Amino acid sequence: IKKIAVFTSGGDSPGMNAAIRSVVRTCAYLKVECVGIYRGYEGMVEGDFKPMDARSVNNIINKGGTILKSARSDSFRTPEGRKQAYDNLVANNIDAFVVIGGDGSFTGAMIFNKEYDFPVIGIPGTIDNDIFGTTYTLGFDTALNTVVDAIDKIRDTASSHNRLFFVEVMGRDVGHIALNAGVGAGAEEILIPEENLGLERLLESLKRSKKSGKSSSIVIVAEGDKTGKNVFELKEYVEENLPIYDVRVSVLGHMQRGGTPSCFDRVLASRMGVRAVEALLEGKSNLMVGIQDNKLILTPIEQAIKGHTKIDKELIRVSDIMST
Ligand code: F6P
Repeated sequence: IKKIAVFTSGGDSPGMNAAIRSVVRTCAYLKVECVGIYRGYEGMVEGDFKPMDARSVNNIINKGGTILKSARSDSFRTPEGRKQAYDNLVANNIDAFVVIGGDGSFTGAMIFNKEYDFPVIGIPGTIDNDIFGTTYTLGFDTALNTVVDAIDKIRDTASSHNRLFFVEVMGRDVGHIALNAGVGAGAEEILIPEENLGLERLLESLKRSKKSGKSSSIVIVAEGDKTGKNVFELKEYVEENLPIYDVRVSVLGHMQRGGTPSCFDRVLASRMGVRAVEALLEGKSNLMVGIQDNKLILTPIEQAIKGHTKIDKELIRVSDIMST
C-alpha cells in the first residue's frame, strides 16, 4: 500500500480533526502518500481529492468540526455512484482508505469493500457512542462535557426561579449521552430509549422531589426516548397533571456536536489514527478500530454496524439513588 485516502462522513463530531491529523502524520512517518477527500463519499464520487502531508494538518488537533467537511451522500448509495468513486480512486492511485464516521459511513465502506475488494478501515466518529466494538466513539466525551456545561447553566436559572426544565439531548436511538450527562449534571430524571419507565413514574418522582424540598428539577430527555411524547408535549403533560411546577424546555441541539475536543477525544483520535494506518499496512481490511479496556482492538465492520451497544445499568441505579 503506497497511497491512503482519509475522509470524514456523516454527522461530524469533535475529535475528527485530531483523527485526520493522526492518519496524515502516520502516513508521513511511514512514508506512505496521503490524500484527503472532501465531503465524504460525495467528494469521492466527484473526485474532490487533495494531497496531504504532515504540514497540512498543523494546528487542527484542537479544532471542532472537520477540515475535510462532511456530507451524507445519495449518489454513493447507487452502484453507478460507487463505480465513479472507484474509478476516481484508481485514477489517483489510491490503494486504501480510512473512513472516520458512524454506522451509515461504515455501511458504505462495507458495501464498497465487497464490490471492489478495496481495503478499508473505519474509525468511529460520532457523539452518540452507538457503535458496537468500542467503549468510546470520537466526540462522545466532548459532547458529554458540552451537555453537562449547558445543564449547569440551565440549573442556575432553574433554581433562581424554582423551575422544572426538560432538557432534550442528542443521541439518535440510544441514551448514552442522556444517561452519562444526566448523572454528571445531577438530573432528577433521565428518559432514555433503552428503559421506558412510563409517565406515571415521572410524575411520582417529580412529586417526591418537590416534597423533599428541592428548589429546581432537571429532567434529561434523550431525543429517541420512548415515552411517546416530545419535550414540549412532556411539558404540557406535567403542567396539566402536576400544576405545582413552572415548566420550561431547552433543546440543546447541534451545539452538542461542536466545540474544542476534550483531551480524551484528542488522545483517542491520535491512537486510533495510528492503528488504522498500521492495520492497512499489515494487509488488514474491512475492520473498525475501537477501544476496550484502554487497548485498541479491531472489529469487523459488519459486526460494528449490526451489533448493539448496551446501556450501563449501573449508571441507571446510581442516577436513581442520587435523585433521592
Ligand atoms: O449522529 C449524530 C447526530 O447528531 C444525532 O445525535 C442526531 O440525531 C443527528 O446526528 C442529527 O443529524 P443532522 O445533523 O442531520 O440534523
